[in-house]
Amino acid sequence: MTAERSLEKGGEECRRGTAERSLEKGGEECRRGTAERSLERGGEGWQRRTAELRLRLLPLLALLALLLALAACSGSEQPSPPEAAGSAVPAASTSSDTGRAAPASGEGAAAAAVKPDAVSGEKPITIGFAMDTLLEERWKKDRDLFVEAAGELGADVIVKSAAGDDARQISQAEAMISQGVDVLVVVPHNAEATAAIVSKAHKSGIKVLSYDRLIKNADVDLYVSFDNIEVGRLQAQTIAKQVPSGNYVYIGGADTDNNAHQFKDGVFEVLQPRIDRGDIRIVYDQWSKDWKPVHALDHMREALDANGTGGIDAVIAANDATAGGAVQALAEYGLEGRIPVAGQDADLAAMRRIASGTQTMTVYKPIGRLAEETARLAVALAKGDPTGATRRVNNGKIEVPSILLKPVAVDASNLEETVIADGFHSREDVYGTDEGE
Ligand code: BGC
Repeated sequence: MTAERSLEKGGEECRRGTAERSLEKGGEECRRGTAERSLERGGEGWQRRTAELRLRLLPLLALLALLLALAACSGSEQPSPPEAAGSAVPAASTSSDTGRAAPASGEGAAAAAVKPDAVSGEKPITIGFAMDTLLEERWKKDRDLFVEAAGELGADVIVKSAAGDDARQISQAEAMISQGVDVLVVVPHNAEATAAIVSKAHKSGIKVLSYDRLIKNADVDLYVSFDNIEVGRLQAQTIAKQVPSGNYVYIGGADTDNNAHQFKDGVFEVLQPRIDRGDIRIVYDQWSKDWKPVHALDHMREALDANGTGGIDAVIAANDATAGGAVQALAEYGLEGRIPVAGQDADLAAMRRIASGTQTMTVYKPIGRLAEETARLAVALAKGDPTGATRRVNNGKIEVPSILLKPVAVDASNLEETVIADGFHSREDVYGTDEGE
């Protein structure tokens, strides 16, 4: 192989061995290690000899330098991995309108295989992020912040959303497993059905992190979420303070989501002693399929029809989207703003309802922290490093090592110092002006 051809090949390897994100940097590194630099170095030695000899030996010197350059570049060569037909999102790619790291397209981006880094010679870690849905506002935040956080750690992310379809979520995860991701992060649509993903991933030596929602009856490696029982407690404590006795409606989330059960457990932990004393009566209690606000709307209408406009004193909805459905039904009955309503997620629409008085409270879960922690822990799992998980949550099969972040109750009185101070929403977005109310 001639020196020239080898150099070309070396340069090509450098480019191929670099994630899109570091292409420029890697290329530069390669160039710095090439003929030019080596020629300069080699030339110094020959300067000590006569000019004539140097002239004669110059072509030989150039050849030598080219070989040196090749050696420098081939030091960082890695065997090229097979091209995978997946959609690795270069983690540092940014979406132009948010300025945030984001997949080039919502559910996955330009095809790229898992490639070695030209500079370090190390293969960047690729995380498969198998999401249930991007329907609620929060999940787009989760996606963008997670990709950004992973990027800061030098990891790439393949994002897939199953649009609430179990079979689709499983086949998307399978595709990422065959693509050779280093670790899988899963937001399960169905807590039970996604157990299949865990066993398939483990067969390929890939660890699985359950994100925000717990996968049940499976050997999940790590669970990172908020304390969801506490979310329910915060809702019930706030509402029970305002309505210590009376008729309550509970609008649940998706029965298939473990979180929906945990939120409900937290709510009833607080309400049960009052129910037992006869202070509080639950006059309506239903799950909302797939968390859809339209089901919450129907449920609330049903509750109002069954109990009459004077028969309901408080509503606790499992999230802000379902709270939105409940508030819409209340509005149809002229009760908007007259009956306390709780939700959770700190969605913008809910923050506006809180500012205008049609929703009483929400629970703020700082998604940025969840995304950052998860990105850090996913990389640790991929490397086989310890995660430092101190808690355990039973998923029906094992005690899953868990990290649970703290949720915060938010109402009109602390909206400013929580959600707005954190930059989760701007004052202008919440109030329609940056002056506040
Ligand atoms: C999450 C909530 C979300 C809901 C609907 C739950 O598992 O914890 O934050 O609103 O799913 O997507």
